[in-house]
Amino acid sequence: MTVILTRQGSFAIVTIDHPPVNALSRAVREALLDAANTLDAERHIQGVILLCKGSTFIAGADISEFGKEPEPPYLPEVIARIENASKPWIAAIHGSALGGGLEVAMGCRFRVASADASLGLPEVKLGIVPGAGGTVRLPRLAGVAAAVDMITTGAAVSATKAASMGLVDAVVEGDLGAQAIAFAQIALGNPLPVPIPQRPRPATQPEFWEAAKKDVTARAKGEIAPLKALECLQNACSMDFDAAMAFERKTFLELRESKQASALRHVFFAERAASRPPELSGIQGRDIRTAAVLGGGTMGAGIVAALREAGIRVTLVERDAAAVQRGLSNVAAIVNGLLSRGRMSATEAGERLAGIHGTEDYGMLADADLVIEAVFEDIAVKQAVFSKLSEVCRADAVLATNTSYLNPELIFAGLPHPQRFLGLHFFSPAHVMKLVEVVPTKQTAPEVLATGFGLARRLGKIPVRAGICDGFIGNRLLKITRAQAERVLLSGATPSQVDSAMRVFGLPMGPFEAQDLGGLDIAAFQRKAARERGETPFAPIGERLCALGRIGQKAGAGWYDYPNGSRKPVPSDTVAGILSEAALSSARIEWDGPSIVDAIVLPMVNEGANILEEQVALRAADIDLVKIYGYGFPRWRGGPMHYATARGLPEIVDILERLASRGLCAPPSEALRSGCWLRDA
Ligand code: 3HC
Ligand code: NAI
Repeated sequence: MTVILTRQGSFAIVTIDHPPVNALSRAVREALLDAANTLDAERHIQGVILLCKGSTFIAGADISEFGKEPEPPYLPEVIARIENASKPWIAAIHGSALGGGLEVAMGCRFRVASADASLGLPEVKLGIVPGAGGTVRLPRLAGVAAAVDMITTGAAVSATKAASMGLVDAVVEGDLGAQAIAFAQIALGNPLPVPIPQRPRPATQPEFWEAAKKDVTARAKGEIAPLKALECLQNACSMDFDAAMAFERKTFLELRESKQASALRHVFFAERAASRPPELSGIQGRDIRTAAVLGGGTMGAGIVAALREAGIRVTLVERDAAAVQRGLSNVAAIVNGLLSRGRMSATEAGERLAGIHGTEDYGMLADADLVIEAVFEDIAVKQAVFSKLSEVCRADAVLATNTSYLNPELIFAGLPHPQRFLGLHFFSPAHVMKLVEVVPTKQTAPEVLATGFGLARRLGKIPVRAGICDGFIGNRLLKITRAQAERVLLSGATPSQVDSAMRVFGLPMGPFEAQDLGGLDIAAFQRKAARERGETPFAPIGERLCALGRIGQKAGAGWYDYPNGSRKPVPSDTVAGILSEAALSSARIEWDGPSIVDAIVLPMVNEGANILEEQVALRAADIDLVKIYGYGFPRWRGGPMHYATARGLPEIVDILERLASRGLCAPPSEALRSGCWLRDA
């Protein structure tokens, strides 16, 4: 039963019971329509309370229906029916009232919310605009500035904030159904508020829309939906209700079919699937109450901050007393940064720091449930650390390495209880970046792997399973990106042309700006290690810049110049000189933005296919998540594998063949040609 009708005195209670999130599938829409018809005919009913079972109010339209033809009854009609019911409806909101859920609530005459509820119109995050009156009703109810803010960002507001905006009539504690009836008994004794469609349009000035457009365009970075949503909002303030509703619906239906919406839906479902991989279904991870982090440098400090944010007590182990103090100050700097940006109170900051115990004594780890190692990227140092850990930790403690490139199987080789080791590869800064690559060895026990996934979820991160190879999924693809970016330079483009092309594609930063920001020395160190392993990494220009000490912003020079400590990249004559010398032997190409992007992104797709064929990644969507959450690949393009699939593999293969014939990338692999990830899709 999706919707249950009960009566309590002169009130009817309509309860939606449609797990997991009470989404507005066709069955729910039909049942709501039926309920409005039934209850209008019941003479003794005075008002209708709309409640939801489970953890949340209606979380929106059913996103899984979006790839299909819309089916009646359509949501705007259902909401209009509720809005025009002769018995006033009162939405009783707990959990999240999102998208169509909030639109239904706005069709009710009143809204009552639990203190922990949140309300929002997140449609733009799915590449669409609200499609059932959100852009038309919200400005009339909460004011146009608040509506523009909520709808163009997709951000939700708390119940208290919603009440201050006029979006919610009462915030209640205790039994929501009973509180809603109590509210209704008083509210229905007074004159009813004017239905939203009959309220006046909010008055606005042209300057308001100009400023809003400028702001939304700057934030959208290639995304269509936020600007379309703004257009709907502007119409809602200039057209009559019905015309504005029709415009919004048309825009919603058009965007629903768009490539961006399809990409964003792909990411939505990929995110949810990633944290619960089917191969671990039914396997319970271990409970983590106490954790330890080895190394309080860049990564260790970030990991400690992330663990503390999730409420886990942490022991931070460093080499000596001075290093312990440095490690603790690194964590304090992160926490104080959050405090100064108003992201937490002084009390919370104090609690975060009080939950960390710094020590140089490995003996303090005897009772840790989990240890994450983030010491120097040196196999001998890591082996020594894990050997000590094996002696002091409980046999059932989970022991993880944060190595970027080293082989975890070599790090753990020969140690007892091999089933308890795994890689947990966080990204920098670890308290901010959402991605964690979870890397099992051949011997990792399933419940240890499940513990890694569970921990990532608890930290609010996206876990992606990665197999062992040089750089796992993310850094292996990064290597291709960087090599390709240099190949493009060698055949005639400039660093600023490449960076600008990648920004236009939707990345927050181009590959050369990013290297300057992070420092070229880390990659140089990795190339040195690769050469020692007998490999031949490709970074001819990068090597020359490092040899000149041009290791990025911190040195005042890298791919760009940074005169007088400025952080703004200025094209460099030195780099131009090196390029013109190095490029002599290469064929010159007149690059334009889209071809630069193809030459960088498509070889990455080729490598992605190899990664899948080798089962280093189990799902193409996992590679998409790694690029989106680890490297800022535009979410609205769905990640590289989705992008290539949507564009069509024959075209991708064709472009790669042409690039390869000029020595500009590896030829398309068999895995790519065969679309290996599409075979089981
Ligand atoms: N439609 C279909 N399925 C949905 C859904 C939706 N709107 N929202 C969530 N789900 C599914 C998830 O895919 C997941 O399924 P799974 O268990 O099979 O993986 C399950 O519900 C639970 O979701 P979460 O893991 O995300 O659960 P959380 O408790 O962490 O979060 C939530 C709950 C905050 C409601 C979160 O799911 C969410 O943000 N959902 C999306 C809300 C949204 O975008 N709504 C707008 C839809 S568009 C719309 O309404 C258009 C309208 O204007 C016409
Ligand atoms: P870092 O040099 O900033 O910090 C390493 C810390 O480990 C130092 O504070 C050092 O004193 C400590 N340390 C060394 N030996 C120790 C020992 N025996 N016991 C306890 N502490 C010890 O290095 P960073 O950047 O934090 O890297 C740490 C690990 O994380 C490396 O394996 C690196 O490859 C990996 N990593 C780094 C990323 C980055 O962007 N910096 C990203 C992802 C992973």
